[in-house]
Amino acid sequence: MLRLIMLGPPGAGKGTQAQKLAKRFAIPHISTGDMLRAAVKAGTPLGKKAKAFMDAGGLVPDDVIIGLVQERLKQDDCIKGFLLDGFPRTVGQAEALKDAGVVIDHVIDMEIPDDDVVVRLTGRRVCPNCNAVFHVSLSPPTKPGICDKCGSELIIRDDDKEDTVRNRLRVYHRSTAPLIAFYEGKGLLRRLNAIGSVDDVFNGMLKLIEVD
Ligand code: AP5
Repeated sequence: MLRLIMLGPPGAGKGTQAQKLAKRFAIPHISTGDMLRAAVKAGTPLGKKAKAFMDAGGLVPDDVIIGLVQERLKQDDCIKGFLLDGFPRTVGQAEALKDAGVVIDHVIDMEIPDDDVVVRLTGRRVCPNCNAVFHVSLSPPTKPGICDKCGSELIIRDDDKEDTVRNRLRVYHRSTAPLIAFYEGKGLLRRLNAIGSVDDVFNGMLKLIEVD
């Protein structure tokens, strides 16, 4: 049983590492960012409500996101564990998770300086079909612009423009960084240096959660 929260600023590599962990441990990767982007793409009422917040690099209101995650965690595939990527993002969301009786084993805080975040996000390319993540120079696909996993054309996320990235960083420091102290106080926080190759960071994570 492995119940993890991935914490860290935008671009720290949460999604990249979560995909590897989910595969390794056969547990679902629950990314609120991916869920919201799917809702925006499908034009659902949730997507319409979330879009303006996301485009500006702000946070979608807690009441919108908390119910969404609680419903997802009730699904059968979460019985053997899960990996939360991008949730919780405010102390209110973390309190709601606790009040719902959701038990967490580890909270991995991926540490990276703001300047590295800007480099990572302005060069990021993502697959709109399978959500695979690449970087034009740091983690390039075999064929430029094409997803290695499913062959779709890669895109640039709307919120990866430099101005929006800087706003996301401000929002992170104001609203999400307080979760570090929140989970440290509960003895769940594991600090991880997010600088290094994807494999090195992954191995560091396995050591932190004491599996090899
Ligand atoms: P979300 O999609 O969760 O975005 P984020 O947290 O800002 O995180 P990112 O996806 O940008 O980065 P990441 O850490 O996953 O990095 P990645 O692995 O891609 O949320 C988007 C928006 O949705 C929010 O702004 C908000 O509006 C809304 N939202 C979502 N959840 C919410 C919530 N709970 N409450 C309210 N609103 C919510 O890597 C980044 C790049 O770096 C890639 O190009 C990758 O190839 C590269 N890279 C990764 N690892 C390495 C490495 N080790 N070395 C070199 N390059 C690397």
